[in-house]
Amino acid sequence: MSHLLHLDSSLRTDGSRSRMLSAHYANRWRAKHPDGAVTYRDLTVDPVPHLDNVAVSAEFVAAADRTPAQAAARALAEKLAGEVLAADTVLIGLPLYNFGPPSTFKAWFDRIVIRDLTVGKLGDKEFVIVTARGGGYSPGTPREGWDHREPWLRHALTVLSVTEPVFINTELTLARESPAMAPLDLGSAEDKSLADALASIDRLVA
Ligand SMILES: Cc1cc2nc3c(=O)[nH]c(=O)nc-3n(C[C@H](O)[C@H](O)[C@H](O)COP(=O)(O)O)c2cc1C
Repeated sequence: MSHLLHLDSSLRTDGSRSRMLSAHYANRWRAKHPDGAVTYRDLTVDPVPHLDNVAVSAEFVAAADRTPAQAAARALAEKLAGEVLAADTVLIGLPLYNFGPPSTFKAWFDRIVIRDLTVGKLGDKEFVIVTARGGGYSPGTPREGWDHREPWLRHALTVLSVTEPVFINTELTLARESPAMAPLDLGSAEDKSLADALASIDRLVA
């Protein structure tokens, strides 16, 4: 049975483009895998605690010698990593905040990178990251290369042996909303970016 792990991380539960894209992907995936299982985790509604020294130190102590706090941290890591290990496809809805990923997503990622559980072990999984960003960062634009979320995550995933994650982006989501961007008249470019992203998802899950 196929298994999809679906994560969202937009602060917004209404009007979010990354949630729209991830829901679109999940719907397509369900239609293609009617007997499949979906695990859903909302990192905004149910945030994972930031990594701390208790969790890090737990990895350097034998299971029998862990303090109760270290044992609890390890149990959380095993739960989160277990969801990834059980999945064939990991779908991530990822907005751009201050040129990087949401801190909620970073907190989740820091908890699932565990030497004996996931490091070097996820090469058989498909990672699909659907992203939204308010501005324009396409090749040839003044802000090309300012979106540090994708290069960071591509590098970070190689630690888990994930070498070909798929990124599907929509951008200019603030074209109409932002007073600074509205005069630039980029509404049709915003619409095209969203339509292109939805079409890319349809092709990917065809
Ligand atoms: C705290 C915060 C920081 C943001 N930083 C950026 C940014 O650095 N670059 C950008 O293009 N858009 C930025 N935005 C706009 C979001 O990327 C945009 O609204 C996007 O659509 C959010 O994803 P969502 O639609 O899934 O909520 C920011 C929004 C918030 C709330």
